[in-house]
Amino acid sequence: MDKQLLSKTAAAMVAKGKGILAADESSGTCEKRFKSVGVECTEENRRAYRGLLFGTPGIEQHLSGVILFDETARQKANDGTPFPRYLAKKGVLPGIKVDKGVTDIPFTAGEKVTDGLDGLQKRLKEYFDMGCRFAKWRAVITIGEGIPTHTCLYANAHALARYAAACQEASIVPMIEPEVLLDGNHSAERSEEVHEATLRATYAAMAAYNVSPEHLILKTSMVVSGRDNPRQAGVGEVAERTVRVLKRTVPAAQPGIVFLSGGQSDEAATAHLNAMAAMKGLPWPLTFSYSRALQNSALKAWSGQAANVAAAQQAFHHRAQMNGLAAQGKWQAGLEKQAA
Ligand code: 13P
Repeated sequence: MDKQLLSKTAAAMVAKGKGILAADESSGTCEKRFKSVGVECTEENRRAYRGLLFGTPGIEQHLSGVILFDETARQKANDGTPFPRYLAKKGVLPGIKVDKGVTDIPFTAGEKVTDGLDGLQKRLKEYFDMGCRFAKWRAVITIGEGIPTHTCLYANAHALARYAAACQEASIVPMIEPEVLLDGNHSAERSEEVHEATLRATYAAMAAYNVSPEHLILKTSMVVSGRDNPRQAGVGEVAERTVRVLKRTVPAAQPGIVFLSGGQSDEAATAHLNAMAAMKGLPWPLTFSYSRALQNSALKAWSGQAANVAAAQQAFHHRAQMNGLAAQGKWQAGLEKQAA
């Protein structure tokens, strides 16, 4: 365990004005996204699309890192350089998704726990040798009638802690992602309660497995109203509830917190981040680690056509730039219109 390297990596991940692109969609998720713009989800199309994103001119000014899927980490850019090295050469940290997706928890109403601990230590060693310096694991928490259960929170927290400990031992920074889904008709208040319970369970497990908070990044969902709730919390309320939960649960010793976008609109994800980052006196830097809210417009602009690469890169660059400003509390809605 190289503590110096872990500290350096974690600090670089949350460097001022930069955030992380989540490009670690599994091939199944990628298929859904590609289908929405009429693109066939072949290995070569996945490579071409990721290459387009990573090759966007100047993107390194707004991205500190990229989370890769195993397949992508083994693919090459157009110039023949493996993607992890290609990103590192640009000064962007390559990261890797190491979980293997979710499975049902017995004796629950279909709640999920994340798989991927078997053989993890061996895989981490290989990923480190490939140049990956941080690793993500996503746990999924669903809000509904009587759920999440204690069983679900407990199972996911322990899996997260075992993976995080394995990462730190391998000198790879764990990016722990307990995602509370926004699906459902719950209120923002209920979402706040569930976020608090989830994060409490998560950090209790981190302590039980001797995971050091100094070498850990939290990737969290924001406290928003359920998608189907007619009363949607406004930007100020989302920011206030989210930061309150984080202050109650996340150690101040942690180097930073990043957010997922979770199905929010591109602009809502930016506005929410901006409102939180503008708050004074927070113990950690806050930034983005979005997939959809960074990629939606780029994917649409590309639509699988080589002739659209420049337009897609422009759209991607714009969202990364807007979110980079939001991470400093310097974004305004007017900036979107200027660029449109
Ligand atoms: P979204 O920003 O699309 O929620 O994706 C982030 C992510 O990494 C999900 O695991």
